[in-house]
Amino acid sequence: MTSAASGPDAIFADARLAAVYDAFEGDRDDLAAYAAMAEEFRASHILDIGCGTGAFATSMARRGLRVTAADPAEASLTVAQGKPGAAAVRWVHGTAQDVLPLQADLAFMTANVAQVFLTDAEWMSCLHAIRAALRPGGRLVFESRDPRRRAWEDWTRARTHRLVRTAAEGEADRWEQLRSVDGEFVTFETVTVFRRDGERIDSSSTLRFRSREALAETVERAGFTVEEVRDAPDRPGREFVFVARRPGESSPGERNAHD
Ligand SMILES: C[S@@+](CC[C@H](N)C(=O)[O-])C[C@H]1O[C@@H](n2cnc3c(N)ncnc32)[C@H](O)[C@@H]1O
Repeated sequence: MTSAASGPDAIFADARLAAVYDAFEGDRDDLAAYAAMAEEFRASHILDIGCGTGAFATSMARRGLRVTAADPAEASLTVAQGKPGAAAVRWVHGTAQDVLPLQADLAFMTANVAQVFLTDAEWMSCLHAIRAALRPGGRLVFESRDPRRRAWEDWTRARTHRLVRTAAEGEADRWEQLRSVDGEFVTFETVTVFRRDGERIDSSSTLRFRSREALAETVERAGFTVEEVRDAPDRPGREFVFVARRPGESSPGERNAHD
C-alpha cells in the first residue's frame, strides 16, 4: 500500500509520469474557485500543501501573491519549477511540517490532497503543522470527496480510459482500475502506456474517504474553527470544500467569510 508515510505515489514521484500529469489533468477548471477564495479572504501570502506540478501555486504567483508551496514528490516539483511564475514561488521539497516557521494568510490543499493521509496520526500531524504555519485568523481550505457518492465505482478501465497527446512524451493512454475497498480505504491503479515506446507504468494509490463529520471533528481537534463546508462549483454534490479558520485576530481590512 502506498501512503503518505511511505512516500508519494509513482504518479507524482516518477519523472516520466510527473512530466505528463498536467496533460492528463486538462485545463484545471477546479482551481478557479480557489483563486476566487484568495481574493475573497484578501490573502496576500498563500501556502499550497501537496502542490504537485504547481498549477495553482504558479497561477497565484503570476497574480502577484506571495506563495509557499510544498510537496514530497521531487519529480512533480521539477515540473512545477519550469512553469511561468515559478521563480517567484518558495518551493519546499517536503510536507507541511517542512514549511515552518511561516505566517501565511491562507493555506490550500487542492485536488483532494487531504485523502492521501491514511492514518489519523498523519492527518492530525498535517493539520497541526498547517495551523502553525498560519497567522492568527488565517484560513485553511481543502477538499475531500464525499464517500456517499462512491466515486470509486467509476474507476474502471472502460469508464476512465483516455488518450492524450502530451508535449513531453507524445501520445499516451491512461486509465484507473479499482483494486479494493476496505471501509474508508480505496486502493486503485493508475495505468499509463506511452505509445512512443510502449512502456507501461502502473502507479498504486490508496485514498481515505472520510465522512464530513469525521473531517469536521479532526479539523476542530487540530485547533481550527470550521466556518463553512462549500460545494466545489465544478463538481456539485461530489466533494466537501472545507473552510477552517485559525482563531485569532484578523489583519486590518480583512473581510469576514460571512460578510
Ligand atoms: C492529487 S495530487 C494534487 C496536486 C496539486 N494539489 C494539484 O492540485 O494538482 C496529490 C499531491 O499530494 C502530494 N502528497 C503526498 N503525500 C503528501 C504529504 N504527506 N504531504 C503533502 N503532500 C503530499 C503528492 O505528492 C501529490 O503531489
